[in-house]
Amino acid sequence: MEFTSEKNPKLSAYLTAINRLRIVKIQSVKEENSNVKTFVFLDRECAEAKPGQFVMVWIPGVDEIPMSLSAISPDGRSAITVARVGEATTALHHRKVGDVIGVRGPYGNGFLLTAPARKVMVAGGGTGVTPLVPLTESLVKLSAEITFLVGAKTRNELFFLDRIGDVVQEAVVTEDGSYGIKGLVTDLAEKILKKEKFDVIYAVGPERMVQKMFLLAEQYNTPFQASLERYIRCGIGICGSCCMGEYRICRDGPVFSSEQLRKARDEFGRLKMEADGTKVQL
Ligand SMILES: Cc1cc2nc3c(=O)[nH]c(=O)nc-3n(C[C@H](O)[C@H](O)[C@H](O)COP(=O)(O)OP(=O)(O)OC[C@H]3O[C@@H](n4cnc5c(N)ncnc54)[C@H](O)[C@@H]3O)c2cc1C
Ligand code: FES
Repeated sequence: MEFTSEKNPKLSAYLTAINRLRIVKIQSVKEENSNVKTFVFLDRECAEAKPGQFVMVWIPGVDEIPMSLSAISPDGRSAITVARVGEATTALHHRKVGDVIGVRGPYGNGFLLTAPARKVMVAGGGTGVTPLVPLTESLVKLSAEITFLVGAKTRNELFFLDRIGDVVQEAVVTEDGSYGIKGLVTDLAEKILKKEKFDVIYAVGPERMVQKMFLLAEQYNTPFQASLERYIRCGIGICGSCCMGEYRICRDGPVFSSEQLRKARDEFGRLKMEADGTKVQL
Protein backbone atom coordinates (compact mmCIF):
# COMPACT_ATOMS: atom_id res chain seq x y z
CA MET A 1 0.00 0.00 0.00
CA GLU A 2 1.27 3.49 -0.84
CA PHE A 3 1.50 5.79 2.14
CA THR A 4 2.13 9.20 0.60
CA SER A 5 -0.66 11.73 0.18
CA GLU A 6 0.28 12.42 -3.49
CA LYS A 7 -0.02 8.74 -4.41
CA ASN A 8 -2.96 7.80 -2.19
CA PRO A 9 -5.01 10.82 -1.14
CA LYS A 10 -7.89 8.65 0.15
CA LEU A 11 -5.61 6.85 2.60
CA SER A 12 -3.99 10.11 3.63
CA ALA A 13 -7.41 11.64 4.39
CA TYR A 14 -8.36 8.55 6.43
CA LEU A 15 -5.12 8.70 8.46
CA THR A 16 -5.68 12.41 9.14
CA ALA A 17 -9.25 11.69 10.23
CA ILE A 18 -8.39 8.86 12.65
CA ASN A 19 -5.58 10.86 14.30
CA ARG A 20 -7.91 13.76 14.99
CA LEU A 21 -9.50 13.77 18.45
CA ARG A 22 -13.26 13.55 17.83
CA ILE A 23 -15.65 14.63 20.54
CA VAL A 24 -18.54 12.15 20.69
CA LYS A 25 -21.69 12.04 22.78
CA ILE A 26 -22.51 8.94 24.81
CA GLN A 27 -25.69 7.50 23.26
CA SER A 28 -26.34 4.76 25.80
CA VAL A 29 -24.76 3.07 28.80
CA LYS A 30 -25.30 -0.58 29.70
CA GLU A 31 -24.27 -2.12 32.99
CA GLU A 32 -22.82 -5.51 31.99
CA ASN A 33 -22.02 -6.53 35.58
CA SER A 34 -21.17 -4.73 38.83
CA ASN A 35 -17.76 -3.64 37.49
CA VAL A 36 -18.16 -3.44 33.71
CA LYS A 37 -20.13 -0.96 31.59
CA THR A 38 -20.62 -0.57 27.84
CA PHE A 39 -20.71 2.95 26.36
CA VAL A 40 -22.22 3.42 22.90
CA PHE A 41 -21.30 6.41 20.71
CA LEU A 42 -21.50 7.39 17.03
CA ASP A 43 -18.28 7.79 15.07
CA ARG A 44 -17.69 7.53 11.32
CA GLU A 45 -14.03 6.50 11.60
CA CYS A 46 -14.80 3.63 14.00
CA ALA A 47 -17.26 2.25 11.43
CA GLU A 48 -14.18 1.29 9.37
CA ALA A 49 -12.44 -0.50 12.27
CA LYS A 50 -11.37 -4.12 12.21
CA PRO A 51 -12.16 -6.36 15.21
CA GLY A 52 -9.23 -6.16 17.63
CA GLN A 53 -8.39 -2.52 16.89
CA PHE A 54 -8.51 -0.04 19.77
CA VAL A 55 -9.33 3.62 20.30
CA MET A 56 -7.71 6.13 22.61
CA VAL A 57 -10.52 7.43 24.81
CA TRP A 58 -10.15 10.85 26.38
CA ILE A 59 -12.09 11.46 29.56
CA PRO A 60 -12.06 15.28 29.84
CA GLY A 61 -10.04 16.51 32.79
CA VAL A 62 -8.88 13.00 33.71
CA ASP A 63 -6.79 10.96 31.24
CA GLU A 64 -6.67 9.26 27.86
CA ILE A 65 -6.71 5.44 27.88
CA PRO A 66 -6.77 2.61 25.29
CA MET A 67 -9.98 0.61 24.84
CA SER A 68 -10.81 -2.12 22.34
CA LEU A 69 -13.92 -1.56 20.29
CA SER A 70 -16.61 -3.91 21.57
CA ALA A 71 -19.06 -3.03 18.79
CA ILE A 72 -18.39 -1.94 15.23
CA SER A 73 -21.15 -1.11 12.82
CA PRO A 74 -21.26 0.31 9.26
CA ASP A 75 -23.59 3.10 10.47
CA GLY A 76 -20.93 4.30 12.93
CA ARG A 77 -22.63 2.96 16.04
CA SER A 78 -19.60 1.97 18.11
CA ALA A 79 -18.96 0.84 21.67
CA ILE A 80 -16.32 0.37 24.31
CA THR A 81 -16.78 -1.97 27.26
CA VAL A 82 -14.91 -0.81 30.31
CA ALA A 83 -13.85 -2.58 33.50
CA ARG A 84 -13.39 -0.22 36.44
CA VAL A 85 -9.79 -0.66 37.65
CA GLY A 86 -8.41 2.83 38.40
CA GLU A 87 -8.81 6.57 38.07
CA ALA A 88 -9.70 6.92 34.39
CA THR A 89 -11.99 3.91 34.17
CA THR A 90 -13.78 4.99 37.37
CA ALA A 91 -14.29 8.49 35.94
CA LEU A 92 -15.64 6.91 32.73
CA HIS A 93 -18.07 4.79 34.77
CA HIS A 94 -19.53 8.04 36.15
CA ARG A 95 -20.30 9.36 32.64
CA LYS A 96 -23.96 9.29 31.60
CA VAL A 97 -26.00 9.42 28.38
CA GLY A 98 -25.42 12.83 26.74
CA ASP A 99 -21.96 13.36 28.31
CA VAL A 100 -19.04 13.73 25.95
CA ILE A 101 -15.76 11.85 25.61
CA GLY A 102 -13.01 12.12 23.00
CA VAL A 103 -11.81 9.35 20.70
CA ARG A 104 -8.73 8.92 18.48
CA GLY A 105 -8.17 5.90 16.26
CA PRO A 106 -9.02 3.14 15.52
CA TYR A 107 -5.41 2.10 15.98
CA GLY A 108 -3.40 -1.09 15.79
CA ASN A 109 -3.68 -3.99 13.40
CA GLY A 110 -6.74 -5.98 14.48
CA PHE A 111 -7.26 -9.71 13.98
CA LEU A 112 -6.57 -11.40 10.70
CA LEU A 113 -9.75 -13.22 9.67
CA THR A 114 -9.53 -16.76 8.42
CA ALA A 115 -10.77 -17.94 5.04
CA PRO A 116 -14.45 -19.02 4.91
CA ALA A 117 -15.78 -22.13 6.63
CA ARG A 118 -12.81 -22.90 8.82
CA LYS A 119 -12.74 -24.37 12.30
CA VAL A 120 -11.88 -21.73 14.87
CA MET A 121 -11.26 -21.68 18.63
CA VAL A 122 -11.83 -18.37 20.44
CA ALA A 123 -10.74 -18.10 24.09
CA GLY A 124 -11.44 -15.05 26.24
CA GLY A 125 -10.51 -14.48 29.88
CA GLY A 126 -12.04 -11.66 31.96
CA THR A 127 -12.41 -8.45 29.94
CA GLY A 128 -10.61 -10.27 27.13
CA VAL A 129 -13.98 -11.22 25.66
CA THR A 130 -14.48 -7.55 24.68
CA PRO A 131 -12.72 -7.56 21.26
CA LEU A 132 -13.53 -11.24 20.69
CA VAL A 133 -17.24 -10.60 20.28
CA PRO A 134 -16.97 -8.34 17.18
CA LEU A 135 -14.35 -10.82 15.89
CA THR A 136 -16.80 -13.70 16.30
CA GLU A 137 -19.60 -11.73 14.65
CA SER A 138 -17.30 -11.24 11.62
CA LEU A 139 -16.18 -14.88 11.60
CA VAL A 140 -19.78 -16.08 11.63
CA LYS A 141 -20.39 -14.06 8.45
CA LEU A 142 -17.51 -16.04 6.91
CA SER A 143 -19.28 -19.28 7.95
CA ALA A 144 -16.50 -20.31 10.30
CA GLU A 145 -17.29 -23.10 12.76
CA ILE A 146 -16.54 -21.51 16.12
CA THR A 147 -15.83 -22.92 19.57
CA PHE A 148 -16.01 -19.95 21.97
CA LEU A 149 -14.54 -20.50 25.44
CA VAL A 150 -15.22 -17.87 28.10
CA GLY A 151 -13.28 -17.82 31.37
CA ALA A 152 -13.71 -15.78 34.56
CA LYS A 153 -12.80 -16.05 38.22
CA THR A 154 -16.44 -16.07 39.27
CA ARG A 155 -20.00 -15.73 37.92
CA ASN A 156 -20.15 -12.01 38.85
CA GLU A 157 -17.30 -11.19 36.47
CA LEU A 158 -18.98 -12.68 33.40
CA PHE A 159 -20.51 -10.46 30.72
CA PHE A 160 -21.53 -10.60 27.03
CA LEU A 161 -22.87 -14.16 27.35
CA ASP A 162 -26.08 -12.92 25.68
CA ARG A 163 -24.18 -11.37 22.75
CA ILE A 164 -21.99 -14.44 22.32
CA GLY A 165 -25.01 -16.74 22.63
CA ASP A 166 -26.74 -14.81 19.85
CA VAL A 167 -24.10 -15.92 17.33
CA VAL A 168 -22.47 -19.11 18.64
CA GLN A 169 -22.79 -21.57 21.49
CA GLU A 170 -20.24 -20.74 24.17
CA ALA A 171 -18.67 -22.87 26.90
CA VAL A 172 -18.22 -21.00 30.17
CA VAL A 173 -15.57 -21.81 32.77
CA THR A 174 -15.31 -20.17 36.20
CA GLU A 175 -12.46 -20.73 38.63
CA ASP A 176 -14.82 -21.13 41.60
CA GLY A 177 -17.42 -23.17 39.69
CA SER A 178 -20.17 -20.60 40.35
CA TYR A 179 -21.21 -20.75 36.65
CA GLY A 180 -20.54 -23.32 33.93
CA ILE A 181 -17.59 -25.69 34.28
CA LYS A 182 -15.27 -25.30 37.28
CA GLY A 183 -11.63 -24.68 36.40
CA LEU A 184 -9.49 -22.69 34.03
CA VAL A 185 -10.38 -21.83 30.45
CA THR A 186 -6.94 -23.11 29.39
CA ASP A 187 -7.71 -26.54 30.89
CA LEU A 188 -10.90 -26.79 28.86
CA ALA A 189 -9.04 -25.62 25.75
CA GLU A 190 -6.44 -28.36 26.29
CA LYS A 191 -9.12 -31.01 26.70
CA ILE A 192 -10.77 -29.97 23.43
CA LEU A 193 -7.47 -29.65 21.55
CA LYS A 194 -6.58 -33.23 22.50
CA LYS A 195 -9.63 -34.40 20.54
CA GLU A 196 -10.17 -31.83 17.80
CA LYS A 197 -7.99 -30.05 15.24
CA PHE A 198 -8.51 -26.30 14.71
CA ASP A 199 -7.35 -24.08 11.86
CA VAL A 200 -6.71 -21.11 14.10
CA ILE A 201 -6.93 -20.10 17.76
CA TYR A 202 -7.67 -16.53 18.90
CA ALA A 203 -7.04 -15.54 22.54
CA VAL A 204 -7.41 -12.42 24.67
CA GLY A 205 -7.18 -12.16 28.44
CA PRO A 206 -4.70 -11.99 31.29
CA GLU A 207 -1.25 -12.48 29.77
CA ARG A 208 -0.52 -15.69 31.71
CA MET A 209 -3.68 -17.19 30.23
CA VAL A 210 -2.75 -15.97 26.75
CA GLN A 211 0.75 -17.43 27.18
CA LYS A 212 -0.70 -20.81 28.11
CA MET A 213 -2.99 -20.66 25.04
CA PHE A 214 0.09 -19.83 22.93
CA LEU A 215 1.94 -22.88 24.32
CA LEU A 216 -1.08 -25.08 23.56
CA ALA A 217 -1.22 -23.71 20.02
CA GLU A 218 2.50 -24.53 19.65
CA GLN A 219 1.96 -28.04 21.04
CA TYR A 220 -0.97 -28.73 18.72
CA ASN A 221 0.68 -27.02 15.76
CA THR A 222 -2.16 -24.54 15.32
CA PRO A 223 -1.86 -20.96 14.01
CA PHE A 224 -2.46 -18.49 16.81
CA GLN A 225 -3.38 -14.83 17.26
CA ALA A 226 -3.54 -12.97 20.57
CA SER A 227 -4.23 -9.40 21.57
CA LEU A 228 -1.92 -8.06 24.30
CA GLU A 229 -2.00 -5.09 26.65
CA ARG A 230 0.80 -2.77 27.73
CA TYR A 231 0.91 0.79 29.04
CA ILE A 232 -0.17 2.91 26.05
CA ARG A 233 0.39 6.65 25.91
CA CYS A 234 0.57 7.93 22.31
CA GLY A 235 -1.11 4.96 20.60
CA ILE A 236 0.72 5.59 17.34
CA GLY A 237 4.21 4.13 17.77
CA ILE A 238 6.07 7.28 18.79
CA CYS A 239 6.66 7.37 22.56
CA GLY A 240 7.96 3.82 23.20
CA SER A 241 5.94 3.30 26.38
CA CYS A 242 4.31 0.08 25.10
CA CYS A 243 7.42 -1.88 24.06
CA MET A 244 7.55 -5.66 24.28
CA GLY A 245 10.87 -6.92 22.91
CA GLU A 246 11.29 -5.52 19.41
CA TYR A 247 7.59 -4.63 19.15
CA ARG A 248 5.47 -1.65 20.05
CA ILE A 249 2.08 -2.99 21.10
CA CYS A 250 0.17 0.02 19.75
CA ARG A 251 1.77 -0.01 16.30
CA ASP A 252 2.80 -3.66 15.67
CA GLY A 253 -0.13 -5.10 17.66
CA PRO A 254 -2.14 -5.29 19.76
CA VAL A 255 -2.74 -8.55 17.89
CA PHE A 256 0.32 -10.79 17.49
CA SER A 257 0.91 -14.06 15.66
CA SER A 258 2.78 -17.09 17.03
CA GLU A 259 5.79 -16.15 14.95
CA GLN A 260 5.98 -12.72 16.56
CA LEU A 261 5.35 -14.08 20.06
CA ARG A 262 8.22 -16.56 19.63
CA LYS A 263 10.49 -13.61 18.85
CA ALA A 264 9.24 -11.74 21.95
CA ARG A 265 9.69 -14.81 24.20
CA ASP A 266 11.95 -12.99 26.71
CA GLU A 267 9.16 -10.53 27.61
CA PHE A 268 5.86 -12.07 26.49
CA GLY A 269 4.14 -13.52 29.57
CA ARG A 270 7.02 -12.36 31.78
CA LEU A 271 7.67 -8.61 31.83
CA LYS A 272 5.78 -5.38 31.27
CA MET A 273 6.91 -1.78 31.26
CA GLU A 274 5.41 0.56 33.86
CA ALA A 275 4.46 4.21 33.17
CA ASP A 276 7.89 5.33 34.47
CA GLY A 277 9.72 3.00 32.05
CA THR A 278 10.82 0.35 34.56
CA LYS A 279 10.23 -3.27 33.63
CA VAL A 280 8.39 -5.40 36.17
CA GLN A 281 7.32 -9.05 36.35
CA LEU A 282 3.80 -9.69 35.08
C1 LIG B 1 -4.90 -2.29 23.38
C2 LIG B 1 -5.65 -2.24 24.69
C3 LIG B 1 -7.00 -2.49 24.71
C4 LIG B 1 -7.70 -2.45 25.92
N1 LIG B 1 -9.03 -2.72 25.90
C5 LIG B 1 -9.73 -2.69 27.06
C6 LIG B 1 -11.12 -2.96 27.06
O1 LIG B 1 -11.74 -3.23 26.03
N2 LIG B 1 -11.78 -2.89 28.25
C7 LIG B 1 -11.13 -2.59 29.43
O2 LIG B 1 -11.78 -2.54 30.46
N3 LIG B 1 -9.81 -2.35 29.45
C8 LIG B 1 -9.09 -2.38 28.31
N4 LIG B 1 -7.75 -2.11 28.33
C9 LIG B 1 -7.11 -1.78 29.63
C10 LIG B 1 -7.35 -0.32 29.97
O3 LIG B 1 -6.72 0.51 29.05
C11 LIG B 1 -6.84 -0.06 31.40
O4 LIG B 1 -7.59 -0.81 32.29
C12 LIG B 1 -6.96 1.40 31.73
O5 LIG B 1 -6.03 2.15 31.00
C13 LIG B 1 -6.72 1.62 33.23
O6 LIG B 1 -6.80 3.02 33.48
P1 LIG B 1 -7.15 3.57 34.92
O7 LIG B 1 -6.68 4.99 34.98
O8 LIG B 1 -8.55 3.33 35.26
O9 LIG B 1 -6.29 2.65 35.87
P2 LIG B 1 -4.78 2.93 36.42
O10 LIG B 1 -4.93 4.07 37.43
O11 LIG B 1 -3.92 3.13 35.25
O12 LIG B 1 -4.55 1.64 37.14
C14 LIG B 1 -5.23 1.35 38.37
C15 LIG B 1 -4.91 -0.02 38.83
O13 LIG B 1 -5.47 -0.94 37.91
C16 LIG B 1 -4.46 -1.79 37.44
N5 LIG B 1 -4.69 -1.97 36.06
C17 LIG B 1 -4.39 -1.10 35.07
N6 LIG B 1 -4.69 -1.64 33.89
C18 LIG B 1 -5.21 -2.85 34.18
C19 LIG B 1 -5.72 -3.89 33.40
N7 LIG B 1 -5.72 -3.81 32.08
N8 LIG B 1 -6.17 -5.01 34.00
C20 LIG B 1 -6.16 -5.12 35.33
N9 LIG B 1 -5.69 -4.17 36.13
C21 LIG B 1 -5.22 -3.07 35.55
C22 LIG B 1 -3.15 -1.07 37.66
O14 LIG B 1 -2.09 -2.02 37.86
C23 LIG B 1 -3.41 -0.29 38.91
O15 LIG B 1 -3.17 -1.05 40.06
C24 LIG B 1 -7.02 -2.14 27.14
C25 LIG B 1 -5.65 -1.91 27.12
C26 LIG B 1 -4.96 -1.97 25.91
C27 LIG B 1 -3.49 -1.72 25.91
S1 FES C 1 2.03 3.98 23.10
FE1 FES C 1 3.54 5.26 22.30
S2 FES C 1 4.74 3.87 21.13
FE2 FES C 1 3.04 2.70 21.74
